[in-house]
Amino acid sequence: MKHLLNMNDLEIKDIDTILNRALEFQQNPSHQFNKQFTVVNLFFEPSTRTKMSFEMAERKLGLHILPFEAGTSSTLKGETMYDTVRTLEAIGVDAVVIRHEQDQFYEELMSGLNLAIINAGDGSGQHPSQCLLDLYTIKQEFGKFEGIHVTIVGDIAHSRVAKSNALALKKLGAHVTFICPPEWQGDFDATSTWEEVLPTADVVMLLRVQHERHGKENDFLKELYHKEYGLTIARYAELKPSTIVMHPAPVNRDVEIASELVESDKSRIFKQIQNGVFVRMAILESVLKERM
Ligand code: CP
Repeated sequence: MKHLLNMNDLEIKDIDTILNRALEFQQNPSHQFNKQFTVVNLFFEPSTRTKMSFEMAERKLGLHILPFEAGTSSTLKGETMYDTVRTLEAIGVDAVVIRHEQDQFYEELMSGLNLAIINAGDGSGQHPSQCLLDLYTIKQEFGKFEGIHVTIVGDIAHSRVAKSNALALKKLGAHVTFICPPEWQGDFDATSTWEEVLPTADVVMLLRVQHERHGKENDFLKELYHKEYGLTIARYAELKPSTIVMHPAPVNRDVEIASELVESDKSRIFKQIQNGVFVRMAILESVLKERM
């Protein structure tokens, strides 16, 4: 794998390879490249999990990390994304991990550059490393994807996590349904209801309400959203014993999920974060191996 940009680009065998390698890293995290690689994490949007998790994965792989702060970089003087990344390539960087508010920011980097690009979230487009860690978490739980009922709940239209996961899970044979307010369903057929889903879902995947992508729509009432679309304590009690609850985080407590349920028995929210390190090690290794 030369880059990781979009889950559309990955075939089932590519996904399997990353998940299997992530499992090996979980069982034995040590790995040494026989060539020294340098990476830069360029985050133009806020992040805690993805940025720290990539950095942890990079450190575990023994990679050199050059620090980059968008707020003190020459992007503030108007330098383009291409020129920024071209500059890092000229300095000797082998791979960049990029989060940016622009959908498909990576398109302008696809020609004229010779370094690996990992998409750490493009606007409302895709979040492939989150998707792969979510897949890893589901496989860890159920051992398969075929026939697993996954319900994605919330702000689907603005969620790169929803788009990546819906695409990949369907490709892998899971049964994917959606619950969301009509104004946030985007291109998805979000006609399921909690009443239908509660007795059947194997995975309830909650999404963060993406206030930063809602423009001036400020009529959001968190109590009302929680009542209509949130995982309430009453709904949680109706889930099957084997059902797991996922959320990419950060969580808006008492909005997408009742605060008391964030670390409940069925919640895999912190397990997802833990798994992210192994999956990102596998992603980094995969793109860097192409440069050996
Ligand atoms: N899940 C996720 O992308 O979290 P961060 O925004 O904190 O990276």
